[in-house]
Amino acid sequence: MSYTVNTLRSLTRSCEQMRDRVKSVVFKPEDRKVLDLTFGPGVAAELVGRTPEALAKAEKEGRLPAPKQLNNGRRYYTLEDLTQIREALGIKVGKAPHEDAVIIAVQNFKGGVGKSTITKHFADFLALRGYSVLVIDCDPQASTTTMFDIQPETLIDKEETLGNYLSPRSVFDDFPAAIHDTAWPTIKIVPSSLGLQDAEWDLTSTLREGGQAVREGLQRLRIGLSSVVKDFDVILLDPPPAMGFLGLNVMAAATGMLVPVPARQLDYLSTIHFMDTIADNIEVLEANGTPVDYGFIRIVCSAYTPSKPGENDMWKMMQATYANFMLSQPVLASEEIKNATQAFRSIYESKPSASHGTYQRCRENLDAVFGEVLQQVREQWPSKSISGLPVDAHGSVPA
Ligand SMILES: Nc1ncnc2c1ncn2[C@@H]1O[C@H](COP(=O)(O)OP(=O)(O)OP(=O)(O)O)[C@@H](O)[C@H]1O
Ligand SMILES: [Mg+2]
Repeated sequence: MSYTVNTLRSLTRSCEQMRDRVKSVVFKPEDRKVLDLTFGPGVAAELVGRTPEALAKAEKEGRLPAPKQLNNGRRYYTLEDLTQIREALGIKVGKAPHEDAVIIAVQNFKGGVGKSTITKHFADFLALRGYSVLVIDCDPQASTTTMFDIQPETLIDKEETLGNYLSPRSVFDDFPAAIHDTAWPTIKIVPSSLGLQDAEWDLTSTLREGGQAVREGLQRLRIGLSSVVKDFDVILLDPPPAMGFLGLNVMAAATGMLVPVPARQLDYLSTIHFMDTIADNIEVLEANGTPVDYGFIRIVCSAYTPSKPGENDMWKMMQATYANFMLSQPVLASEEIKNATQAFRSIYESKPSASHGTYQRCRENLDAVFGEVLQQVREQWPSKSISGLPVDAHGSVPA
């Protein structure tokens, strides 16, 4: 063995020893995130898709329990209250039981374009409206996993990880066992794990065997998801910023694609390359017995500052290029989003970091963007499809 390999092996051993010592000291289960969200009558009504007057009437008539009250008499609702209201009023937001979850790849091979930020915020947006969501963090960097308060290091001893499930070298085959709870009652996650990068290499090595081994390697995630596709409304896939077997697994498993592109020239130009590579890769998948057919493809401008020189032109150029495939609202670049994600939260989970007005504008902007994506999602379920009818920001047809 060479000096370099010897040194690296011995460094690995001392890292492993240190990791075990750190693990026993640092990770405290009691430090888990607790969601403590409350909503005033206006927001609560909006989140269940009714007017505040309709809620007040149902409360008065005894069809709903009286809301909780603060000392100052102000009424408020918790996330659990919203679930109870939907149940009591027969409000069913998700797919019909026999329908499949919509599986969205939040995909772009460029790094830092907002994939994980959008995945986390869209998941929380959906959960607030009563949808059940499964998030799959396919990125070894694990940012989305951390935002859902799961420390990848805590999975070290676990056999039941996405990495092991995907790796052809592992015997672990029970995909649902890799699903974890989050602080949100209706969001579950398959976290990234430290071994996910190894899975990428193990999958790539199937190329040497060719044929059936490659096909199975490309379809691992798709096969795993097929066992839970009736259990969730929406499944969000957050891929790594590179095209390898993990990225191909995401593309093969998805039934819709959302492409975040910031209003910056370099990102715009790299997206042209991305689209071309995606098309090539879909041909590779199809040539390997893995047909791919997305119900929708949408490009979302993921960070836009109208006052920044050049960004307005970029935004116009993106609209001209992608036309109907572009969401009509851009996600505005916002300090609120930046601050929230740095604290491993979404803005839906955090309080305003500056003024209430700035926070509110940021939230309204995200609601408008995700309302458009939700409409695409609902179009995929025959029971909810409202093609041709006017819809509101919830993707519902106004009564
Ligand atoms: N609309 C926004 N406003 C402000 N900051 C943003 C916005 N969207 C993303 N960011 C910030 O940009 C950085 C990169 O975002 P993110 O991690 O979501 O990108 P990514 O595409 O997932 O990156 P990677 O390819 O490395 O996985 C993060 O620090 C995030 O807080
Ligand atoms: Mg990411």
